[in-house]
Amino acid sequence: MAGSPGPDGGGPDLAALRRSLAEYVRTRGEVAGAAVAEALRAVPRHLFLPGTPPEAAYRDEAIVTKRDAGGRPISSSSQPTIMGIMLDQLGVEPGARVLEIGAGTGYNAALIAHLTGPGGEVVSVDIDQDVADAARDHLLDAGFPDVRVVCADGAEGFAERAPYDRVIATVGVWDLAPAWLDQLVPDGRIVVPLDLRGVQCSVAMEREDDHWTSRSIRPCGFMRIRGTAAGPERTHVLDRESELTLESPTGHDIDPQAVRARLAATAIERNTGVVVGAAEIFGGLALWLAIREPSWCTLFGADACDLLGDTPLAVQGHKFTAGVLGDGGLALLRRGPGPEAFELIVAGYGPAGDELAAGLVAQVRAWDAAGRPTAQGLRIDAYPISTRDGRLDAGTVIDKTHTRLALSWPALA
Ligand SMILES: C[S@@+](CC[C@H](N)C(=O)[O-])C[C@H]1O[C@@H](n2cnc3c(N)ncnc32)[C@H](O)[C@@H]1O
Repeated sequence: MAGSPGPDGGGPDLAALRRSLAEYVRTRGEVAGAAVAEALRAVPRHLFLPGTPPEAAYRDEAIVTKRDAGGRPISSSSQPTIMGIMLDQLGVEPGARVLEIGAGTGYNAALIAHLTGPGGEVVSVDIDQDVADAARDHLLDAGFPDVRVVCADGAEGFAERAPYDRVIATVGVWDLAPAWLDQLVPDGRIVVPLDLRGVQCSVAMEREDDHWTSRSIRPCGFMRIRGTAAGPERTHVLDRESELTLESPTGHDIDPQAVRARLAATAIERNTGVVVGAAEIFGGLALWLAIREPSWCTLFGADACDLLGDTPLAVQGHKFTAGVLGDGGLALLRRGPGPEAFELIVAGYGPAGDELAAGLVAQVRAWDAAGRPTAQGLRIDAYPISTRDGRLDAGTVIDKTHTRLALSWPALA
């Protein structure tokens, strides 16, 4: 494995940067497995990001490495904390055979190869030839020549080296592709960033009788899968300059210009009386709304986008909020004053805005009264799409292409 310039060599002490990143990921991501932190300490991320200054490579940030013609990110090295969380969920044992969908830079495949050790096998698939070629080069440079990088649509898995003990997708998926499940050993585990009506959660699943059930669920946010497994496009650009975008996961008919005009008008505000931290929105309230509120929507824009006002969430130059969308208006969550904890305010727009705002206030209060359930407490059971309603456990059912997902918070039952 490549060495690292130390303080004496004049450059940054890369081993020290790796140690501090590994410790940060372990504590911030609540990563239990010591082997995952050890892999983060050992594998040189900067070798997978040749154009990035080494200091930046060891920050806990996603780094975009490829964009499409419209400027949208289509490949990256994911944020180390979510990589650590997902590897912890995956539970890779020495000697394991692992399939990764989304090779990207190859860094995560190298972490997995470190976890399997020399007796294991890692195959990583990427849909783009240039990305796969670069990942292969990075893996060679970093001392992982045995990781097999394949250029293909990962929807088909990679039957040639099946069965696998573990399958992981490092790209946001709309559904569990049948090939991934078929290519796992009977007691195998799959970890994927799964779309739950517009909210993504990293879900670890294992077989249980005739279906798959979740063992661990954590919030996450990945770029979406392309190719044959891509989900329906429910994103609408409201304003290109400020990158103002609306997503309506329930498939509502949208007139982007009408929604934009509504947002430009004066809003009526209602207080919720519920004080939160930003992390509770990402891992809790947004999921509650996605599961319980049929007309829910999300909006994001660049930091400078005035139309959204003060949003409850801001990440890497962008701000995010959620709300409800009706024919006569919309209602959105806003952030009240306060540096860390703040009150959630609801702003209603359009003729039905105040009524929609009242409904959204009621949802926020119901989530609060239920003990603020989060992704961690959620249970997901995935059944084949042919399964009849009566055989699904109680809860919300989300139908995908190949599977029916039954979602519930067992603690609330
Ligand atoms: C967030 S990046 C993966 C990060 C990567 N694991 C790493 O460590 O750098 C997502 C990758 O998924 C790839 N991808 C998108 N759709 C795919 C598909 N259908 N099959 C395989 N790869 C796909 C993209 O080209 C992109 O490189």
